[in-house]
This record gives sequence, structure tokens and C-alpha cells, in this order.
Amino acid sequence: MLLLLFQLQLQLLVSHSWSAVGCIDRERQALLDLKAGFVDESGLLSSWGNEEEKRDCCQWERVRCSNQTGHVQMLYLQGEDHSEVYWQYYDVFDSYDVRPLLRGKISASLMELQHLRYLNLSFNNFKYSHIPEFFGTLHSLRYLDVSNSYFVGKIPNQLGSLPNLHHLDLSRNLLEGAIPSQLESLLNLHHLDLSHNYLEGSIPSQLGNLSSLQKLYLGYNQALKIHNENFARTQWLSNLTSLTILDLSKVLNLNHSLNWLQTINELQNLRELYLVRCNLPDDDLLLFPDPSKFNFSSSLTIVDLSQVSNLNHSHYLLQIIGKLPNLRELFLGDCKLSDQDLFFLDHTKFNSSSLTTLDLSSNNMPATFLKSLANICTLRSLILSDVSLSVDFPTILHNLSGCASDTLQELDLRYCLMFQNFHL
Ligand SMILES: *[C@@H]1O[C@H](CO)[C@@H](O)[C@H](O)[C@H]1NC(C)=O
Ligand SMILES: *[C@@H]1O[C@H](CO)[C@@H](O)[C@H](O)[C@H]1NC(C)=O
Ligand SMILES: *[C@@H]1O[C@H](CO)[C@@H](O)[C@H](O)[C@H]1NC(C)=O
Ligand SMILES: *[C@@H]1O[C@H](CO)[C@@H](O)[C@H](O)[C@H]1NC(C)=O
Ligand SMILES: *[C@@H]1O[C@H](CO)[C@@H](O)[C@H](O)[C@H]1NC(C)=O
Ligand SMILES: *[C@@H]1O[C@H](CO)[C@@H](O)[C@H](O)[C@H]1NC(C)=O
Ligand SMILES: *[C@@H]1O[C@H](CO)[C@@H](O)[C@H](O)[C@H]1NC(C)=O
Ligand SMILES: *[C@@H]1O[C@H](CO)[C@@H](O)[C@H](O)[C@H]1NC(C)=O
Ligand SMILES: *[C@@H]1O[C@H](CO)[C@@H](O)[C@H](O)[C@H]1NC(C)=O
Repeated sequence: MLLLLFQLQLQLLVSHSWSAVGCIDRERQALLDLKAGFVDESGLLSSWGNEEEKRDCCQWERVRCSNQTGHVQMLYLQGEDHSEVYWQYYDVFDSYDVRPLLRGKISASLMELQHLRYLNLSFNNFKYSHIPEFFGTLHSLRYLDVSNSYFVGKIPNQLGSLPNLHHLDLSRNLLEGAIPSQLESLLNLHHLDLSHNYLEGSIPSQLGNLSSLQKLYLGYNQALKIHNENFARTQWLSNLTSLTILDLSKVLNLNHSLNWLQTINELQNLRELYLVRCNLPDDDLLLFPDPSKFNFSSSLTIVDLSQVSNLNHSHYLLQIIGKLPNLRELFLGDCKLSDQDLFFLDHTKFNSSSLTTLDLSSNNMPATFLKSLANICTLRSLILSDVSLSVDFPTILHNLSGCASDTLQELDLRYCLMFQNFHL
């Protein structure tokens, strides 16, 4: 039934750009070989052919050439993006009922396309094959996206030999093993997404070389760890001064030391921080040696600490978060917060003039706390699902009628325990 939602609406992503030069024979043959390796059930590549009227491969769907040289520069071979529908509910890729656009094998003829700058193979089904090592020969590549495509095995070291790469997305596959330190050579990388795989081992400190990196997603892997043994090795994170998004969700050992927290502290451009399901250092660690050193980036707008199991040991962290001046979205679902912890999130403590989304689902909360929430005057979305409120619905509404009731657009009370004396 879900499939109905994913009705394949093949939009023509590529408008036919008139190529002054026309397609290069060798590259046309390479594309035909590539097509021969695929099972193209949806007819996505029906415009790719040998017939006379199809001679100019620059006119084929999902191919774009340089209008000056005629070289193939972009291949838009992605399937339908259905991620919004359910990735939020699952960690790692599993066999859902996905209708991929392409199946089969990625032919090594791809290596012929030495001017390729953009390759998108996401949302396909490459049936548990490995990411081809020969991708490492496509030296012109700037964008490589093979996310959501059932790739298995290790990340090939060869990907480290793509010096022009800006954007590398290997997320939501079944990749395992360690992150290869060879990625250190991708000095132009802005966007690196390795999340939602089965990667393990220490995150290589060589990632500290990627000084252009703005978005780093390493979350939701099997057993990734931050180096904590000595400070020099966690220093890598603080070298990434351009980072605006950092996702370390489910990284195992964040509670072992403060180094990593200190380094996050130094990332003054950080806007989004995701530490879902992490263990954080306890307060006694946090207070050592000098709590005033903790000063998260004032540019932080999204902080997600959902399912952090020991957040109730880190009151200090809650205090810091409460003071973030530009915080817009705060997720604290299922953090086992107590009344005492919530105290730090009271509206009077919240020094954010901009909080629009607050998720406190699956925590314990006294109904009296609603009054505090009601006084966050910018709140648009309040998520209180699976909270035990033990009052009735009209009382909840009444208690929420602070200034937030002018702005509130979404109130999520799914699975809430409340008294059922509705008189509607
Ligand atoms: C090539 O394409 C670009 C962008 O589509 C366009 O701005 C430029 O004028 C084109 N050049 C030629 C020689 O057609
Ligand atoms: C690849 O295609 C997917 C699906 O359309 C899209 O979400 C993604 O942004 C594309 N990747 C790149 C690097 O453009
Ligand atoms: C990465 O950084 C280390 C230490 O800063 C340096 O020795 C190494 O040459 C760098 N690697 C690359 C590929 O730039
Ligand atoms: C991080 O930066 C420091 C100082 O700029 C430098 O000494 C160190 O080699 C860098 N580390 C890495 C892994 O790039
Ligand atoms: C970190 O968390 C893990 C898992 O909960 C726990 O086993 C370990 O003892 C903790 N380590 C420290 C130093 O708190
Ligand atoms: C926090 O960071 C801001 C901006 O970098 C700086 O001006 C301020 O002095 C810092 N505060 C503390 C207590 O470190
Ligand atoms: C934190 O929550 C856990 C689980 O509910 C509980 O066992 C523990 O005592 C709490 N710790 C503190 C310091 O409140
Ligand atoms: C709230 O922020 C303002 C301006 O950034 C600052 O002057 C004030 O002391 C802060 N209040 C608290 C309780 O942190
Ligand atoms: C919540 O509402 C009930 C009845 O509507 C009222 O009696 C109670 O005082 C309110 N609680 C708070 C904390 O405002």
C-alpha cells in the first residue's frame, strides 16, 4: 500500500541542453555498455540507443554534456527519493518494498567518461554488490551520490583519489568495516555522508584534513567510536572549522571523555548538532576542569539529543542548551528526563527568543510543566507524544493557553496518557 505513495513520477530532471558539439562516439559506446549492465524495468533509459535518430547521446534522457566539448559531464541515474516517508523511522537500510529504477551491474565502461563531474546512482537496487573501485579513476567527479542503493562491503580506499570531489554520499547502504583514512585526500569535500550503514571502528583522525567540510554525517552506524585516548587524536574535529552540520548519532563512546565536547565547542559555525542515542559525559566530567569553557556555538539552531540515555546526568548540558540564543529546534524525546531536569527547560531558563519546535516525547512530565511550555512565545510545534500527563484534554489545552497558543500550529499528543472525560 505504501507503494501507492511512491508512484513513480518520473520527472525529467534534465532538460535537453542543445549541444553545439554533439556526443563523442567513445562516450556513447560507454553509455550503451553501461545500459547493457542494467536491468531497466521502468524504461528510464529507453532514449539511450544505437538507432540513427538516437545518435547524439547528449540528447539522451538523464545525460548532460558540456556544450563546448561534447563530453558527458552529468549522469542523473537516481531512482525515486522515498526517504521522507520512512527513513525517520528506521536506522539502517533493510529490505523494504522499494521499487528501484535500476538494477544490475555498474559496467566498468563508466571509466571512459573521464569528464564526468556529477554521478547520481541513489535509490537504485544494486543487489548487494560492492561500490566499484574504479569510481576512483573518475578524476573529474565533483558529486558522487550512491546512497540508498543496497551496496555492501567496505568503502573502497580508491575513493580517496578523487581530489575534486565536493560531495560524497554513501549513506543508507549496508557498508561495513572502517572508514578508510584515504578519504583524507578529499581536500575539496564540502559534504560527506556515511550515515545509516554498518560501519565500525574509530573515526580516522585524518578526517581533520578535510578543512572545507561543511556537512559531516556519521550517525547511525554499527559501532563507530571517537578516538578518546589522547587529545591529539580528537583534535581532528576542531580542525573542521567550516562545519555547519555534525551528526554523530549512535557513536558509541562519547561519554568517555570531554575532549570531543571541547572540540565541538570550538566549531563556531555549527548550526545543526545531532547526537541521537549517544551517551554523553556526566556532569562531574563536564565540570572538570572548567565549565565556563563550555560555550556551544551561538549559531546552533537545531540540537537533537533524542534517546540520550544519560542526559539526566548532565544538567549542565541542559543549562548550556537552554541559553543558546538562536536555537529553533530542540529534540529531547525519550531522554528519561525527570521533573528536576525539566526545570532547566523552564521558559524562564530558556534564553532563546527563537524556539519553534520542542520535542519532549516519551519523558515523564507533570501537567504543571505545560504552563512553562505555554510561555515559550515562539513555539510552533510541540511534541508530547507518549507522555503521561494524567489530566484531561481540556485541562491540557487550558494549561497550554499561554502566549504560545498564538503561535502553536502543531501539538502532538499521540499515545499520551490522559484522563478520558472528553465532553466535546
Ligand atoms: C553552454 O551552456 C551554458 C549553461 O547552460 C550557457 O550559459 C552557455 O551560453 C552555453 N554556451 C554555448 C557556447 O552554447
Ligand atoms: C541524487 O538524487 C536524489 C534523488 O532525487 C536527490 O535527493 C539527491 O540530492 C541527488 N544527489 C545529488 C548529489 O545531487
Ligand atoms: C593530513 O594532515 C596531516 C597532518 O596534519 C599531514 O601530515 C598529511 O600530509 C595530510 N594529508 C593530506 C593528504 O593532505
Ligand atoms: C589540525 O590542525 C592543527 C593546527 O592547525 C594541525 O597541527 C594538525 O596537524 C591538524 N590535524 C589534522 C589531522 O589535520
Ligand atoms: C559509557 O556508556 C557505556 C554504555 O552505557 C557504559 O558501559 C560505560 O561504562 C560508560 N563509560 C563511562 C566512562 O561513563
Ligand atoms: C563564547 O563564545 C563567544 C563567541 O566566540 C565569545 O565571545 C565568548 O567570550 C565565549 N564565552 C565563554 C564563556 O567562553
Ligand atoms: C537517570 O535515569 C535513569 C533511568 O530512568 C535512572 O536509573 C537514574 O537514576 C537517573 N539518574 C539521575 C542522576 O537522575
Ligand atoms: C539571555 O541572553 C541575553 C543576551 O544574549 C543575556 O544578556 C542574558 O544574561 C541571558 N540570560 C540568561 C538567563 O542566560
Ligand atoms: C491547568 O488547568 C486546570 C483546569 O483547567 C487548572 O485548575 C490548573 O490550575 C491549571 N494548571 C496550571 C499549572 O496552570
